[in-house]
Amino acid sequence: MTGPALERLLADGPRLTVGMITADLTRLGDEMAVLERAGVELVHVDVMDGVFCPMLTVGPPVIKAIRTPLLKDVHLMIDDPLPKIAAFVDAGADMITFQVEGAAQPHRVLQVLATATNANDPARGIVRGIAINPSTPVGAIEPLLDEVDYVLVLAVNPGWGGQAFIPATEGRLEAARRLIEGSGRRILLGVDGGVTRANVARVAGLGADVVVSGSAIFDGSAAAENATFMLDQVRSAGRSDAARVPVGTGAHP
Ligand code: DX5
Ligand code: ZN
Repeated sequence: MTGPALERLLADGPRLTVGMITADLTRLGDEMAVLERAGVELVHVDVMDGVFCPMLTVGPPVIKAIRTPLLKDVHLMIDDPLPKIAAFVDAGADMITFQVEGAAQPHRVLQVLATATNANDPARGIVRGIAINPSTPVGAIEPLLDEVDYVLVLAVNPGWGGQAFIPATEGRLEAARRLIEGSGRRILLGVDGGVTRANVARVAGLGADVVVSGSAIFDGSAAAENATFMLDQVRSAGRSDAARVPVGTGAHP
């Protein structure tokens, strides 16, 4: 499915999506307003079920309660997503990304998502994403490329915010990008986990369309300043990407 949400994300990348699990969950409205004022367009909600990964976080009721104009980017780190998809759709997810390792039939989950209607705005569509753990061969995305809108490469093992970025992710992003290009479809590439003030410029320069960062922004003290800084770094990487487009590609007549 395509829709305005996907078209918007495919244009003018890369984008920062901010993980909210380390925000002050008792003042979520204020925390979302901080992101909005900084110019952030997406909020990344890490759903952990205590089965697929060690931690338990939030589910559909909290996603529904988040009042924000930001796109709700829902990352399901859960076992057996298929029967739970409808609850996340009803809660107002604009993007639903599930771990391929948790799904017996990941292709079917994508097909079911294609029939879902965005609860915020039916015209917006729902971006259908798959995520892969650091130990999952990148080739696992290949059979799903005919249905998927978004491929998210995890740079940490699912479980907590604040873990270190696994260096092998760089090569995995490149491999995923090549497979996406080979598909001939317009598919977003994202990277999630361990993106900090120190490495954001480098990570954003790796060619992903979507960069997830959580605890580097909601660090308990300077969310507004962190969001502005991270957003600026991600956008600068996009500008330098554009500058690197070789002459003769038609991108710069
Ligand atoms: C991994 C999650 C990530 C992570 C992001 O378990 O999918 O979204 O919490 O948090 P940071 O940016 O703190 O690594
Ligand atoms: Zn995540």
